[in-house]
Amino acid sequence: MKMWTFLTAIWFSLVCITFCHKSRPRRHYSNEYRKGTPACDVVCEGQWKNEFHANFHKIYDTDYFEIPLDTAIVKNRNNLKMFCSSTMQKYACLRNECRMHRTPWSAEKHICMQNFDNFDRNINCLSLTDRYVQKECSNVCNSIRIEISQAEVDRMAEMEFSRQEKSEFVEQNKHCNFIACHQICHEYIINKICIDSAASARSVVKTYYDAYLEREYIALNKDDQDELYSSFCRRVTPGQDENAYTANMTRYNNLTLDRMKNDIRSAFSILD
Ligand SMILES: *[C@@H]1O[C@H](CO)[C@@H](O)[C@H](O)[C@H]1NC(C)=O
Ligand SMILES: *[C@@H]1O[C@H](CO)[C@@H](O)[C@H](O)[C@H]1NC(C)=O
Repeated sequence: MKMWTFLTAIWFSLVCITFCHKSRPRRHYSNEYRKGTPACDVVCEGQWKNEFHANFHKIYDTDYFEIPLDTAIVKNRNNLKMFCSSTMQKYACLRNECRMHRTPWSAEKHICMQNFDNFDRNINCLSLTDRYVQKECSNVCNSIRIEISQAEVDRMAEMEFSRQEKSEFVEQNKHCNFIACHQICHEYIINKICIDSAASARSVVKTYYDAYLEREYIALNKDDQDELYSSFCRRVTPGQDENAYTANMTRYNNLTLDRMKNDIRSAFSILD
């Protein structure tokens, strides 16, 4: 990046640090900075968010969502390309300006750097499903019934979870239900709409949600809070065992998933 753009970016970041108070939960970017001088990665990140605003006319921190796949990205190929070209620049900035060669998983890195070809190849299907994902899937997934099994309630009591631990467990479990619901819903619509390319598009969606859920688990595990990850979360996260902490949970999780699928099916009875 040329020096002047970097300086412009610093300026924009300062504006953003002042005005963009609302940051999204579960975003693991470092936001340490000395007063008046943003850290290098904050500058790259700020520039990227400014470009997002310029390209899509909405504010990244408040109007962009990682779940479900954001309409800004999957609406059409042009959007995907704009988003990814600016994401590539962000990572070039992190490498070249900040010497950050190892960065944690992020949705944009997943889409634009690790799986761009797959997204690009399936963009027609993804863009056809987008409006259903944004509307009907969001309606269903925002209103699913989310419960915690009695067995896990008992286990929390046995292990003497603090109030805070209980509430983190409940929140994480909600989050996993929401993510799983969106994944199932998106795959369901793909099957209805994309006929020929359904298998390939489904796999793009599955790979994204799998990676997202793995990140959820890794974030908890890193803080040594493994036991706060519910059996349902384990059921939907690759490589995890739903019965790891509480025995005999398969049937309960089967019922939860069946209920979710039924809710989704009835929301889309119009498409049958
Ligand atoms: C799990 O279910 C099996 C079969 O129903 C039962 O024999 C076993 O005692 C259960 N284990 C626990 C820990 O509840
Ligand atoms: C859970 O569902 C799977 C299929 O999705 C089935 O094979 C399994 O037997 C079910 N297990 C229980 C305990 O209900």
